[in-house]
Amino acid sequence: MENNFKNSNFFDVIATRKTIRKYTNEIPPLEAIKKIADAGRLAPCTTNTQNWEFIAIYDNTTKQKMAQAVENKYDELKDRVKSDEDKNRINGYKYYSMFFNKAPVVFAIVEKKRVSTILSILERNGMPEEELRYYDNRSSILSMGAAIENMSLCAHALGFGTCWMCAPIVAQKEFGDILGLNPDDKVITLLTVGYPDTNDSSVTKNKKSLDEVFRIVL
Ligand SMILES: Cc1cc2nc3c(=O)[nH]c(=O)nc-3n(C[C@H](O)[C@H](O)[C@H](O)COP(=O)(O)O)c2cc1C
Repeated sequence: MENNFKNSNFFDVIATRKTIRKYTNEIPPLEAIKKIADAGRLAPCTTNTQNWEFIAIYDNTTKQKMAQAVENKYDELKDRVKSDEDKNRINGYKYYSMFFNKAPVVFAIVEKKRVSTILSILERNGMPEEELRYYDNRSSILSMGAAIENMSLCAHALGFGTCWMCAPIVAQKEFGDILGLNPDDKVITLLTVGYPDTNDSSVTKNKKSLDEVFRIVL
């Protein structure tokens, strides 16, 4: 595996990664999938809690059950909005949520319950919920993002395409049931992995220029 990197220059890996939503039918070897999970494991994380689990789903029946749960959930949500415009928008979301069941491997990225030390101290000392929210630095979810990005870049370096997917998370509870998770642990992202299909129409998105997003304080 060590020598199997297709793209091994660090900056090239960052610069050439793009979201891939269509894959060939070829199944990524377990060794590669483990390597990707391992890149997640090595990410930095708040107070080094490592409150994550990376579940690699190869099984089509499980993927299908998860996709059905997403479809049901969006249909349910569509019934709860009034205008056709909003219903159409929800249909668009559904479209960008469902294709994971065609990916050869789907990682369910699980955030395990973690109690923030500072928040629990403040809560114990009577700080009201509203004010507590201000002191929530969201470090747990940021750590999850670090792991997911490590995994995406590693997959790309190995020659795979990925799509980081949050739209399917409307069915978070159902995913937990399907995957047998403890109710306190949440699937927060699906990360699809497969060999990129040359017919994938995803294009490298226009990125803002560095000048637009960067400033220097001297
Ligand atoms: C947190 C997050 C959630 C995303 N959720 C979805 C999703 O549910 N469905 C999807 O098709 N793409 C999803 N994407 C992919 C983005 O659409 C994509 O990263 C963005 O358009 C930029 O394109 P690029 O990844 O090729 O640079 C998500 C990306 C991130 C970082």
